[in-house]
Amino acid sequence: MSDRITVSVIKADIGGFVGHSSVHPALMERARECVASCGDLLVDSYVASVGDDVNLILTHRHGVDCEAIHSLAWNTFRSCTDVARSLKLYGAGQDLLKDSFSGNIKGMGPGVAEMEFVERKSEPIIVFMADKTGPGAWNLPLFKIFADPFNTAGLVIDPSMHKGFIFEVLDLMHNKTVEFQCPDELYDMLVFIGAPGRFCIKSIRSRTSGEIAAVSSTQKLNLIAGKYVGKDDPCLVVRCQSGLPAVGEVLEPFAHPHLVAGWMRGSHHGPLMPVSAKDSSPVRFDGPPRVEALGFQLADGRLIGPQDFFADRSYDLAREKANLVADYMRSHGPFEPHRLGLEDMEYTTLPLVMEKLKDRFVDVK
Ligand code: F6R
Ligand code: MG
Ligand code: MG
Repeated sequence: MSDRITVSVIKADIGGFVGHSSVHPALMERARECVASCGDLLVDSYVASVGDDVNLILTHRHGVDCEAIHSLAWNTFRSCTDVARSLKLYGAGQDLLKDSFSGNIKGMGPGVAEMEFVERKSEPIIVFMADKTGPGAWNLPLFKIFADPFNTAGLVIDPSMHKGFIFEVLDLMHNKTVEFQCPDELYDMLVFIGAPGRFCIKSIRSRTSGEIAAVSSTQKLNLIAGKYVGKDDPCLVVRCQSGLPAVGEVLEPFAHPHLVAGWMRGSHHGPLMPVSAKDSSPVRFDGPPRVEALGFQLADGRLIGPQDFFADRSYDLAREKANLVADYMRSHGPFEPHRLGLEDMEYTTLPLVMEKLKDRFVDVK
């Protein structure tokens, strides 16, 4: 048996209860039944939700991009879609963009974040899951966690982190990746990751040990579907401690509810509010966008947990700030910068209105 363990987080919106706000308990139950019935394919699993998304947190010995694991997730989502249809839940099967499974779930709608590693003597991980936003939402917190000494004391104090981290960045438009050695190339990297609608941090490795430290889900649904089909509602897995940022350093950036793209109709900027699992349903204007953080200790691949980190009172202030910022942003109504810029509205009504009015535009004399 491989001494390597793989953590796969695979998520999809397969029907909302009510509207796009949360997941009905019957879907959660079906998802748990499906993953539990897979024999010894998995070491362990935990079925979580954030907003209207089901997140399957799976551990196994088969590496990333494993067909059997992806097929299990696909069949689970298909089966949950049947439940969603029977209850007439909203947008049943929304993220299952293809009719049949063809070996890998990537590019078929669901989001995937997977990493494989040798489990350390003690292996704390955090699974972040967000609703009503896209994968670029992780850029700012990941930058702070792995490159900002004002956030992560270990970058200065811990000799095993002092050399920094390698960031792999994906260009969503051209489907190319580029690596940056940080801190040496921080300023070059910021040119790109400061534009989170186009460039997303895909993975991060330690420069000291080469160990994988973080992996995010980075597909953009509208680029797959060719039209707006909802935001990607991304997930992220981060390993912590012993040469990697401490749990508290990994959670720290979320004390600042930064502005992300998403919210109502995937077309508005709003603050990312850190919430407990039970508070993860977006309400006001289908939002504001939310993030949940579930901590686990791995024990030979078993998921010991979760610890629902943002349930803690130390995130009350961030929530209050997020509510104030949400209120301020809402006051702009249909105006930028609350509403996204035109290029990000490409998959909404914009092309239709442009087409309708195109003959009414006259040259300026
Ligand atoms: C955003 C989201 C919701 C919907 C909105 C309209 O990611 O899921 O804000 O975009 O509720 O939904 P439809 O078009 O399904 O009526
Ligand atoms: Mg939905
Ligand atoms: Mg969602």
